[in-house]
Amino acid sequence: MKEKIYEIEKEIENTVLNNAKQLEEFRIKYLGSKGKIKDLFSFLKEAPKEEKREIGQLMNMLRKSAQSKFDDSTEKLNFAQETEHKIDLSRPADQNEIGARHPLSLVRSEIIEIFNRIGFTVSEGPEIEDDWHNFSALNFPPEHPARDMQDTFFIEKGENEIALRTHTSSVQVRVMENDKPPIRTISPGRVYRNEAISARAHCFFHQVEGLYIDKNVSFADLKQTLLYFAKELFGEKAKIRLRPSYFPFTEPSAEVDVSCTICNSKGCNVCKYTGWLEILGCGMVDPNVLEASNIDSKIYTGFAFGMGVERIAQLKYKVNDLRLYSENDVRFLKQFTAGN
Ligand code: PHE
Repeated sequence: MKEKIYEIEKEIENTVLNNAKQLEEFRIKYLGSKGKIKDLFSFLKEAPKEEKREIGQLMNMLRKSAQSKFDDSTEKLNFAQETEHKIDLSRPADQNEIGARHPLSLVRSEIIEIFNRIGFTVSEGPEIEDDWHNFSALNFPPEHPARDMQDTFFIEKGENEIALRTHTSSVQVRVMENDKPPIRTISPGRVYRNEAISARAHCFFHQVEGLYIDKNVSFADLKQTLLYFAKELFGEKAKIRLRPSYFPFTEPSAEVDVSCTICNSKGCNVCKYTGWLEILGCGMVDPNVLEASNIDSKIYTGFAFGMGVERIAQLKYKVNDLRLYSENDVRFLKQFTAGN
């Protein structure tokens, strides 16, 4: 009897269960009501008395191991079937969603490219500046209101004031200190001003400022450069006009308007029915500024200009709330693509 049990045990061990058919055959052959194990149990009563207990235990073990072989194989087969369904090798790969470029980054690149084409290099500098580079070297009188707490985020007050730069003119001072003319550079970058945040003002924004210093640089060069810029950016029909203005670091100074591209100068609510949009400030570099950076103002002259990137982006994309640029709302951000 024991031999019979061992024999079946071996048989079970050697059975391969790889598919549903084999499983079913195995179940009928060993576990079913007419199966071999059931059969064995019916012979138990014929076993010699003293062996009954042992044989009974062996039979139980045999039944258990047959059952667990069946259960394990069933589970494995189900799992294999499931994963087979999940893996579809012909399915196209998931697309990596690529974000869009930020509108300010697009506009900044476009401005840089336009000036690159006429020989302007790009220079950058620190956002945390000392008083000298942000104000004093730029001919700001000590009592000038722009130095007030109102406009400037100070980091250290006192002898050597440290602040977040309020414009990227500070970078131009650094260029003038380090390079000899001719200088032809633009400085893009983030600037900070202590203003209440609203649709029309923010505590930080972006600028591109330009500087050109050489012998015989004239106001006519400045006008022509800016006209070229406006046409490149807003189209061949763009016109510019200059209005007298004041900046401590330029003399004479002007504010530049471009003809309204939205209504073709007919008058709309963006240009406030004037037909013109203000886009930048400019002027001839004040001799004091050249001298402060050890450039001989008797030999060299120069012009400078500065514009807000948000302002230009607003005109290009008709975005009328400055806050949208820094809120990182993807619904806003994904609307911008290069060439728009
Ligand atoms: N720095 C000025 C500003 O931040 C812009 C400017 C630059 C004006 C150069 C004139 C010349 O508003």
